[in-house]
Amino acid sequence: MRLDEAKRDHYRKRAKEEGYRSRAAFKLIQINQKYRLINPRDRVIDIGSAPGGWLEVASEQVGPDGLVIGVDLVQVKPVGKNVKILTGDISSADFPDKLHYALGKGNADCVLADLSPKISGIWEMDHFRQIELCHKVLDLLPSILVRGGSSVMKAFQGAELDLLVKRLKKSFPRVEVSKPNASRSESSEVYLVSMDFSGKVEPRQLGALEEERPYEVRSDSVESGLSSDRLTLAPS
Ligand SMILES: C[S@@+](CC[C@H](N)C(=O)[O-])C[C@H]1O[C@@H](n2cnc3c(N)ncnc32)[C@H](O)[C@@H]1O
Repeated sequence: MRLDEAKRDHYRKRAKEEGYRSRAAFKLIQINQKYRLINPRDRVIDIGSAPGGWLEVASEQVGPDGLVIGVDLVQVKPVGKNVKILTGDISSADFPDKLHYALGKGNADCVLADLSPKISGIWEMDHFRQIELCHKVLDLLPSILVRGGSSVMKAFQGAELDLLVKRLKKSFPRVEVSKPNASRSESSEVYLVSMDFSGKVEPRQLGALEEERPYEVRSDSVESGLSSDRLTLAPS
């Protein structure tokens, strides 16, 4: 059995034994063990939360006095008393209002986004769409994340990743690229862990993604050089 398959089976078995809905739960457990982003009484938003492994982990971490809000295109089964679940598309015009309503007074301490678009199999397109989702989450942060708060975003490696990281670095003094052990090494995903939010997000340079780089296949774009376990990115 190949190493990656063995790893996948290991975490799948552990998820079953420990009662998590998905093996993805272990990615958040490992990230949180390293960075201590989610703490008791925190308010956490988890965007792209189905089937709910991250929600279960966040719910445990924030405890009974905390709040977790999960959002996904598809319905998620209830998780616990401290978890509110919204069904919706983060790209839709009414999504920010829905989220603000669920959040009530005060912003979240941590915003998680383990978003994956529907995979087409055309690598460049999937990468582009996934990074687009990350930019959408970033656009929302000033109205949902407290100053000093943190964020964890899944990102597919490729040509657009550097631009996303640069944009994150404008809003967070500390941005690290993490590949938790529970993430298969064959997978192109990395997790962008951003800490100490400034409260502001640089507006996007419109057209930089949509117009200049449509869904063309570029042979130089698969490797971004960010595949190591952890890379610290110096502030720009
Ligand atoms: C890898 S799964 C998340 C797994 C989850 N973290 C867990 O632990 O169970 C990615 C999710 O992103 C969701 N998603 C993709 N595009 C979305 C969008 N535009 N709005 C909301 N959710 C979206 C998908 O429906 C999918 O459930």
